[in-house]
Amino acid sequence: GAPTLWGIELKWISLVTLALQNAFLTIIMHYSRISTSPNKTYSASSAVLLNELFKGSISILFALRRIDAEQLSAPHSYSEKDPKSTERCPTSRFPTFLHPSRLRILSKEVFSTDCYKLSVPAILYVIQNNLQYVAASNLDVATFQVTYQMKILTTAFFSVLMLNKRLSRTKWAALVLLALGVGIVQIQSSSAPSHQPADSGIRLEKVAGALRSDIPEPPVQTLTRVMHPFRGFLAVTLACMTSGLAGVYFEFILKASSGTGPAPDLWVRNTQLSLFSLLPALVPILFTTKGPEGAGYVERVMSKFSNFNGWAMGTVLTQTFGGLITAVVIRYSDNIMKGFATSLSIVISFLASVMLFAYPITAAFIIGSSIVLAATYLYNAPSTPSTRTTVAVTPG
Ligand code: C5P
Repeated sequence: GAPTLWGIELKWISLVTLALQNAFLTIIMHYSRISTSPNKTYSASSAVLLNELFKGSISILFALRRIDAEQLSAPHSYSEKDPKSTERCPTSRFPTFLHPSRLRILSKEVFSTDCYKLSVPAILYVIQNNLQYVAASNLDVATFQVTYQMKILTTAFFSVLMLNKRLSRTKWAALVLLALGVGIVQIQSSSAPSHQPADSGIRLEKVAGALRSDIPEPPVQTLTRVMHPFRGFLAVTLACMTSGLAGVYFEFILKASSGTGPAPDLWVRNTQLSLFSLLPALVPILFTTKGPEGAGYVERVMSKFSNFNGWAMGTVLTQTFGGLITAVVIRYSDNIMKGFATSLSIVISFLASVMLFAYPITAAFIIGSSIVLAATYLYNAPSTPSTRTTVAVTPG
């Protein structure tokens, strides 16, 4: 049967967790970007790199645990000299699952002949994760959250294209509704010149002047205090493209049956994903040209890791957690269900931002958000019998 945790299907636990994580991430990321003075803002590219390092390390630990469990259940040996020995290496300094023989098995799985496939989603996710910071710096919490729902459209598009999924007419109608809802929210927020949090208005004004003068950071990291809705929407749109493509590509790799032998497990795939992310995540840091005045190269690179206060670290860790949960969701549900979970998070973070940042509730926002939610419901409602070929088991 389906894997469970505390008697509940892992699928549902992961979807609900993802909704909560998404809501929390949107808020903490936005706050971490707007709450400091401009020269104290942490570097988004460093945050993305740290996220990949954390995610990769945790994925390795999960993969090692699985190998350990498999080996304990099989009469396999820790000692290569005595293959019959099943002792738990009492003299080892390592916890059993960190034993070198496990590491060897893992590295064989990670550096498999098809590991290169993960380079595609890895690069796309690194781009997306950087774009997300641009969007979070230029759009308020609620607008970002709603417009980011366009990724349901791109995900559907790529699912049809790459996974041969078939979408009923109802689902396509839901997608059009979704675009409409997102559009309504977008119009109201780009026509309103100031929709920044009321409580931080004065602080934002003050730092705006400072931002216009030269800031020693490339554009991606500096679009913080003065919010540029158009830039934000552009970033969201591109992030939606990469989200759809990367997610579906990852699902394709996870669920495609491998030709020979058992398919690598989720955590091995995730480790591969993180490994391939390291290089593109490092590029903007290693090729940085900005930094403290008169600083040498090493100092410039090191300065990319300053300013990581508690909010910044909280943002990185929340994103790490989200990446791990996303992987579980793609494994046990699919990218389309993931869309449902994240639109649930709109409601959560909208209510939270009204309470925390005193955002005004506009009619357009409520109408747009309602359409987005209705569309999400319609999209995920069980398909009508006419679009299905399966035999109904219910009487009547
Ligand atoms: O916005 P979206 O839901 O597409 O974001 C997915 C996030 O999950 C990205 O930050 C990506 O880096 C992360 N992810 C991951 N591991 C996976 C799949 C996605 O860390 N296997």
